[in-house]
Amino acid sequence: MIAIGCDHAALELKKSIIAHIESCGFEVKDFGCFTSEAVDYPVYARKVSQAVASGECEKGILICGTGIGMSIAANKVEGIRCALCGDTFSARATRQHNDANILALGERVVGKGLALDIVDVFLNTEFSGEERHVRRIALIEPKESKN
Ligand code: RB5
Repeated sequence: MIAIGCDHAALELKKSIIAHIESCGFEVKDFGCFTSEAVDYPVYARKVSQAVASGECEKGILICGTGIGMSIAANKVEGIRCALCGDTFSARATRQHNDANILALGERVVGKGLALDIVDVFLNTEFSGEERHVRRIALIEPKESKN
């Protein structure tokens, strides 16, 4: 199950992403928002992040105007590694190296075609599992850090 959320600035791109990934066979849980009325992006970042951190959903996608607010807010939730991506190289690398579990996108930054490619790469790339990456990820989590 893929969790998805957006604010009012990204409603159209969210609809396109849902249609695309459902056509690829993914199940999607949409945490809102659902209208173009102005809303506060941290509310939706938290809903999606909690669904991923709890294990209810395996990965998440968050979209706002820039993707920046969503990524900042999502990364405040323990267990979340949210990557703001504007290219497919970063989307692939953040899965392989960071085991990112949420993708953030900016509807005002990337076009629909590129956004769908980024989503495809993010959802279909596995974490490498290499020891150095496992070690570095462990150092990110406050409780597991030795510093
Ligand atoms: C909304 O205008 C905009 O601030 C929001 O979508 C996002 O870009 C925040 O980071």
